Amino acid sequence: MNSNQHILVIDDEENLRHMLSVMLARQGYRVDVAADGKSGLICLLNNVYDYILCDIRMPEMDGKTFLTHALEEHVSAPIIMMSAYGSVETAVECMKLGAYDFISKPFKKDEIAIVLKKAEERERLKEENSQLRDVAAGQFSYSGIISRSAAMQEIFSQIRKVADLKTTILVLGESGTGKELVARALHQTGCRSQKPFVAVNCGAIPENLLESELFGHVRGAFTDASSDKAGLFEQADGGTLFLDEIGEMPLALQVKLLRVLQENEIRKIGASVSKTVDVRVVSATSRDLSGDVGLGRFREDLYFRLNVFCLQLPPLRYRVEDIPLLAEHFVKRYGNDKDGLVRVEPDALRCLMAYRWPGNVRELENVVERACILCERGLITTACLPLSLRQSDKASPIEMVADENLSIKKAEDIIERELIGKALSKTGGNRTQAAKILEISLRSLLYKLKEYGIE
Ligand SMILES: Nc1ncnc2c1ncn2[C@@H]1O[C@H](COP(=O)(O)OP(=O)(O)OP(=O)(O)O)[C@@H](O)[C@H]1O
Ligand SMILES: [Mg+2]
Repeated sequence: MNSNQHILVIDDEENLRHMLSVMLARQGYRVDVAADGKSGLICLLNNVYDYILCDIRMPEMDGKTFLTHALEEHVSAPIIMMSAYGSVETAVECMKLGAYDFISKPFKKDEIAIVLKKAEERERLKEENSQLRDVAAGQFSYSGIISRSAAMQEIFSQIRKVADLKTTILVLGESGTGKELVARALHQTGCRSQKPFVAVNCGAIPENLLESELFGHVRGAFTDASSDKAGLFEQADGGTLFLDEIGEMPLALQVKLLRVLQENEIRKIGASVSKTVDVRVVSATSRDLSGDVGLGRFREDLYFRLNVFCLQLPPLRYRVEDIPLLAEHFVKRYGNDKDGLVRVEPDALRCLMAYRWPGNVRELENVVERACILCERGLITTACLPLSLRQSDKASPIEMVADENLSIKKAEDIIERELIGKALSKTGGNRTQAAKILEISLRSLLYKLKEYGIE
């Protein structure tokens, strides 16, 4: 039975309305009726229908006009036109406009039921497809972080593992790689999500204020302290405190932070007693923190305390396969103009993929936003991209290695990846030809592609 399905029947003939509502009700549908297009539109205002059956010739507002309005209102129910002798031509026009089907009057036996069954099947497929799409999209995103690269998928799985724990997390990565996004994801997908997420940029607050920001103060603790003030640790109680740019924290304060982390207690400036807080600390920096430890700029004991679990985000140039996905993501955000969604031309996408992205995902986001403004006729071409990108200042492999580390294995990997990428773009993605140029077997190319997470 179709017990929960709701149908709207629009026809000016009273007898036919009656006949259809009895018949469809018997088949288990809930049926509403309307005598012309106008009343039909009113029904649409107050109900969501699964199917609409609509006559073509009617007084007040005919079927075609009703259809046009309904489609403009983005009614998603399949609309089936009913055409009497002489209106078949109009019925065909209606199909072109977006009607789902038409049946000619008088109906043959069971004809309505068959058309409805077909429509039902199509709706089911549509639903399934959209679910599949969602699954596919879900696979490549985690709490708003978009990525398909193996390296980031590994980060997703690590986030999943630690989100519910109180473990202190250090997020490392170049500027714009998504460190803050990861910190938020840790909070939002963990058991603390209902409690506050408090973020503080340790580099942006003057040294003398940072302590009272973090720990609070009591009235009279210093000249300007006219009242008690709760610190960020207290505000984040039960939740997460995100210490951004932790590498900028002054040494004197590092000692105090370490104490708080070890004792789970804060003491406001000027207070004589401590207070217990339950705060999960996530910190982030784009600096080389262990290098700073070596140089005496960062306390080693604090470094170990913060770095219980480390998430190292790869720069965008090491995960080129994420670029199309991210570009699409940002086009969806910035490129929804009146003519629909903006598209990226293949040439422009190649430019995006060849660039070295020193500013990582943030830079890509800005470039796409700008391109969406500059683009014409809904198409992002290379002309919409900044000059620096078109001239493609791609990092030489050796440059990419030198500041990362000096491992020969790693350097080989990077050069190999680079060459594979070049060969593939030269052959338009043809793997057999690419393997030839690379002078390796197809099998070992396929293996390497898998290893590097390149599709
Ligand atoms: N994988 C991603 N998917 C979607 N958006 C991303 C992704 N990575 C970064 N972004 C976006 O890029 C911008 C920069 O990200 P974020 O602020 O998290 O970087 P960051 O590493 O904290 O940078 P910085 O070191 O400069 O503070 C944000 O707008 C963020 O939403
Ligand atoms: Mg940041």
